[in-house]
Amino acid sequence: MLESIPHGGKLINRILRGKDREMAELKARELRKIPLTSREVSDLEMMAVGALSPLEGFMCKDDYHSVIDTMRLTNGLPWSLPVTLSVSQEIADSLSLKDEVAMVDGQGNALAILTVEDIFNHDKEKEAVEVYKTDSPEHPGVKYINDVGPVLVGGKIALFQRPKHEDFLPYRLDPEETRKKFQEKGWKRVVGFQTRNPIHRAHEYIQKSALEIVDGLMVHPLVGATKGDDVPATVRMRCYEALFQNYYPKDRTMLAVFPAAMRYAGPREAIFHAICRKNYGCTHFIVGRDHAGVGNYYGTFDAHYIFDEFEPGELGITPLRFDHTFYCKRCTSMASYKTCPHDSTDHVALSGTKVREMLRNGIKPPAEFSRPEVATILIEAMSANKE
Ligand code: ADX
Repeated sequence: MLESIPHGGKLINRILRGKDREMAELKARELRKIPLTSREVSDLEMMAVGALSPLEGFMCKDDYHSVIDTMRLTNGLPWSLPVTLSVSQEIADSLSLKDEVAMVDGQGNALAILTVEDIFNHDKEKEAVEVYKTDSPEHPGVKYINDVGPVLVGGKIALFQRPKHEDFLPYRLDPEETRKKFQEKGWKRVVGFQTRNPIHRAHEYIQKSALEIVDGLMVHPLVGATKGDDVPATVRMRCYEALFQNYYPKDRTMLAVFPAAMRYAGPREAIFHAICRKNYGCTHFIVGRDHAGVGNYYGTFDAHYIFDEFEPGELGITPLRFDHTFYCKRCTSMASYKTCPHDSTDHVALSGTKVREMLRNGIKPPAEFSRPEVATILIEAMSANKE
């Protein structure tokens, strides 16, 4: 038996089927339309399939403030990030409590019905400082909240149409499906790995070190919205496939995608990432250096320390904390500051900027940094981008 229990005790399912689905779709045509950002579309889909269990809808005011102030829902359950639906003042003024509204994606497709339970002020300043730890408009998470409407609408959702996806179809597994796969594979203890980057040797090393102590590894790259200069998910997927083909044991590893949008909230997002992976059935979660970080807004290991703010066992998923890892020429192996006694001049560590520059010039980073198959894909993608 898989050892992981969904957050809050049961996997939420807010997907309408059969007659209910047909009726909701018809009804939505007559309802007030609320446009969703791409992050909100991701959140909606994740809520519907249970990836955000126990959430059944966009947060109401009490949960919103409770999460920001205490990292808990009002029922006391740990939860670190607001999951909110923003609207313009004009839309807010036209809504009343108990209204039903149709949520539509960027292309105008109606996806779900929300029953309005709360209409409240988006406390952007407080959210920026408490969640993102900065009020800098340069921070991509803060920029997002500054850009969206000033009012939040809370309420349960009922989804009748999954957002349209044309990419990564074989890898789009819902929590129910990943849980089933883990059972079939006989994995009781599964470690999840979050990433928004191509996987380099440091990532591979922490994944495989983690795999040494559990039954299976799920590499779970985020494929929702990311900031413009992150490597696009389509390119990253080709890198992951090449790695799985050449370097990962088939019976102990699995690749699936995580439909979330990136918030760049560092430590708070590490907790969020862990709770979501618990819903997908993971028992363990990897947290390395500067998890979900951006710029210099967070300390390198803040995402480790934040897990200590919860009682042992309370989160229901075990964080596996990894120090900064690299290849050491004197150890002649991958290592970390925890395991390597040598000077950093012996380490092969390249900054993101340096790697991008090398790839742009068609130069492969050393094999100690990146598998050659991955470097080849990245160089091709960069040169195609130049044309
Ligand atoms: S993230 O925004 O998704 O966290 P990234 O894809 O770079 O970014 O990282 C994925 C995971 O690998 C995170 O847990 C991160 O902390 C960890 N990680 C990345 N590089 C290293 C490294 N050199 N040493 C240790 N951990 C790392």
